[in-house]
Amino acid sequence: MYKLEIIGGPKLNGEVKISGSKNSSLPILFASILASGEVHINNTPHLSDVSTTLRLLMEMGSEFMLESDNSIVINSSSLKSLEAKYDLVKTMRASILALGPTLAKYGKAKVSLPGGCAIGSRPVNLHLKALEELGAKIEVKAGYIYAEAKELIGTKIYFDQRSVTATENILMAATLAKGKTTIYNAAQEPEVSDLINCLNAMGAKITGFGTSTLEIEGVGNLSGVAYSICPDRIEAGTYLLAGAITRGKVTVKNVKPESMRSTIGKLIETGAHISSTSDSITLDMKGERPKAVDIKTGAYPNFPTDMQAQFTALNAVASGSSIITETIFENRFMHIPELIRMGADLNLDGHTVYCKGVKYLNGANLMATDLRASASLVLAGLVAEGKTVIDRVYHLDRGYETIEEKLKILGANIERVQ
Ligand code: UD1
Repeated sequence: MYKLEIIGGPKLNGEVKISGSKNSSLPILFASILASGEVHINNTPHLSDVSTTLRLLMEMGSEFMLESDNSIVINSSSLKSLEAKYDLVKTMRASILALGPTLAKYGKAKVSLPGGCAIGSRPVNLHLKALEELGAKIEVKAGYIYAEAKELIGTKIYFDQRSVTATENILMAATLAKGKTTIYNAAQEPEVSDLINCLNAMGAKITGFGTSTLEIEGVGNLSGVAYSICPDRIEAGTYLLAGAITRGKVTVKNVKPESMRSTIGKLIETGAHISSTSDSITLDMKGERPKAVDIKTGAYPNFPTDMQAQFTALNAVASGSSIITETIFENRFMHIPELIRMGADLNLDGHTVYCKGVKYLNGANLMATDLRASASLVLAGLVAEGKTVIDRVYHLDRGYETIEEKLKILGANIERVQ
């Protein structure tokens, strides 16, 4: 098992190219199930979650080719199995995205229930209720979801809570349903918009792009397409924070600044000087210690829960006190005990962390627990005195392409060791 060894200290400086978005790539790969031909996906990141999705689709009968330029050509037009098995689903909750498109295209699907995970119970009730509203018969037996529908019929769906993957699942299912589906209280995350763009390019008729009300006029079939995945705003935000926490100057390239407004706003509050072009953002701390900022997570366009852990690491060494409130996931604080072991002054009370910035953190042996918690430990390691060793790096490989290589380009002292 790999570990990351980091010697803290260097101010990061330089430019880093951001990969395609993980959270766009996964639904768009699953959307290939709906297409009647090849789907050519450009700007896909090299991540273990992408490999897991490809393995799952391959088990179902998809054929794909990885091309040298970060492209995947996938043909999922004639699946042989309509089942997503527990072995893979348990390693990646986004596998639930196999359900909507498989059911819509083949009238049947069997998908393992994902179960809970390190950051919370993460139920899928919204996905199932909405599919039932579209006319599917759903049964949950022995850990599997069995869904069946001769034909899905468009209807009005109101989500009690905004959910990214539930919105994506129902969007995909509704593209082939009979008549019009309206989704109210849909998630507005840029990755949902990316999926809508891709589905429309395949021939779907979806309107309401970027809003919380989406209308889908069902069509008879969808065709293959060539589509380029949008940049990963969470990866970009993490590298900007690496610049901020080390008091350095970092430019992230191949990004969409307009999708990162809440993160950029918070970075400006820390004292960062930010400038951007249409596809890059530069953060310059001018050598200054960041100021602590209060954070409250929320559905897009509010502050992303996927950046909460990284900002907690920044606040841990910032000047002043801060309050971090998590409203999306009930247990997304696995990084807190590890940061405390490094010397952070953090107090967890329910969904809120009270943080008093300290001048120094100490390097320590740490355990990565989930994807973004691990990213926060890397950030803390970059400023800690001495050596930090982070175990279970596979969590990071789910969402950050060659993180140690990109950080090295910026001047970090970091190695992947066995
Ligand atoms: C997606 C992202 C993840 C991000 C999260 C919130 C992907 C692959 N993952 O996860 O990185 O952290 O959005 O931005 O895109 N909920 C229910 N019932 C459901 C579905 C969700 O109660 O059926 C709750 C969840 O427990 C959570 C909230 O809704 O409290 C939002 O979760 P959701 O948006 O569904 O997260 P994911 O789509 O799993």
